[in-house]
Amino acid sequence: MILVTGGAGFIGGNFVLDWIAETGEPVLNLDALTYAGNLETLASLADDERHVFKRGDICDRELVDGLLQTYRPRAIVHFAAESHVDRSIHGPGEFIRTNVQGTFTLLEAARAYWNGLPPDARAGFRFLHVSTDEVYGSLEPQAPAFTERHPFEPNSPYSASKAASDHLVRAWYHTYGLPVLTTNCSNNYGPFHFPEKLIPLMIVNALAGRPLPVYGDGLNVRDWLYVKDHCSAIRRVLAQGRLGETYNVGGWNEKRNIDIVHTVCALLDEMRPDPAGSYARLITFVQDRPGHDRRYAIDASKIENELGWRPAETFETGIRKTIAWYLENPGWVEHVQSGAYRNWIDTNYASRQNGGTA
Ligand code: NAD
Ligand code: TYD
Repeated sequence: MILVTGGAGFIGGNFVLDWIAETGEPVLNLDALTYAGNLETLASLADDERHVFKRGDICDRELVDGLLQTYRPRAIVHFAAESHVDRSIHGPGEFIRTNVQGTFTLLEAARAYWNGLPPDARAGFRFLHVSTDEVYGSLEPQAPAFTERHPFEPNSPYSASKAASDHLVRAWYHTYGLPVLTTNCSNNYGPFHFPEKLIPLMIVNALAGRPLPVYGDGLNVRDWLYVKDHCSAIRRVLAQGRLGETYNVGGWNEKRNIDIVHTVCALLDEMRPDPAGSYARLITFVQDRPGHDRRYAIDASKIENELGWRPAETFETGIRKTIAWYLENPGWVEHVQSGAYRNWIDTNYASRQNGGTA
């Protein structure tokens, strides 16, 4: 089996579902079930023996050691993290704890376990660290997209904590020979995405008739990848990636935020028309995020040339599937919008006056 950390979150949950469907190999899923973890995402696996769920913290060394000894996974795929930039601005401490200390704890536990494996199992073991393009910082409008050789220039507490974890993973390869792989991926979207991030927030707010808050002038650029494409990329890197290497994963879909929001509105107008008029009437420019990176763009040539991976979805196909999923799953959306969620929305948006720079 494999050990997945953070497998009740957005990408980890999609990965667990995808992994079991595609490979049939069992998964041990270690997740602390923070606000971002949701077992409803994994409801279809409730009676499936191939999914073993353990609630716990990746910073708990004793717990991780015990799980490795009991379940003896052949690989660790590490998703668990605090992942939202705006939350990292309001409270960076938890990002340092989980993303830095937690990755360190896992690396040390993995190293001890790997050292004790018999030669064949030791040779086949892998530690795959899931990271982000945000470690590279912000690009000028005409600058070439991030390659794996781009310097690390993180600008938010979130990206700085992820950059730190990437450095640790690299060091555990060079110093101890731990068989690691790292993926740096662009912005994901798709089913089971917590509605604090741009795309699900816009869908959920539009359907509720609430304002669609666009930060600053709305001209920040991100590359967007459908989450199932990210899952297939991780499977490919795990199976064929060269040890110690990093692979950029992206969708070849650079989009401005305002264009994303208009696309979401146009598709909702088509798929769930509102008698009150186009959802675009709800677009509201609000105060910008401090330190807001202007542009991310991923050059995913290495993973394509070395491992033959390319995304299956275009943005147009992926966003349509995503919106259809939200329309078909109002129960999932309703359940994640708990009291804690509402407190976060108040914290993040109440202080942003309307009227960004657009
Ligand atoms: P998420 O916030 O949706 O999920 C994170 C999961 O980790 C949750 O289930 C949470 O309960 C769990 N978790 C948090 N702290 C934990 C701890 N101390 N111990 C155990 N579990 C803990 O995040 P996501 O969007 O699914 O991102 C997954 C990974 O992918 C992260 O490492 C993130 O940095 C990376 N990534 C995300 C994106 C994106 O667009 N979402 C893009 C590139 C990379
Ligand atoms: P987000 O989904 O938080 O991902 P990240 O900051 O990791 O890229 O945000 C994506 C972009 O959308 C980013 O430029 C910030 C912007 N944004 C808004 O304009 N309004 C919002 O309410 C949110 C959450 C994000």
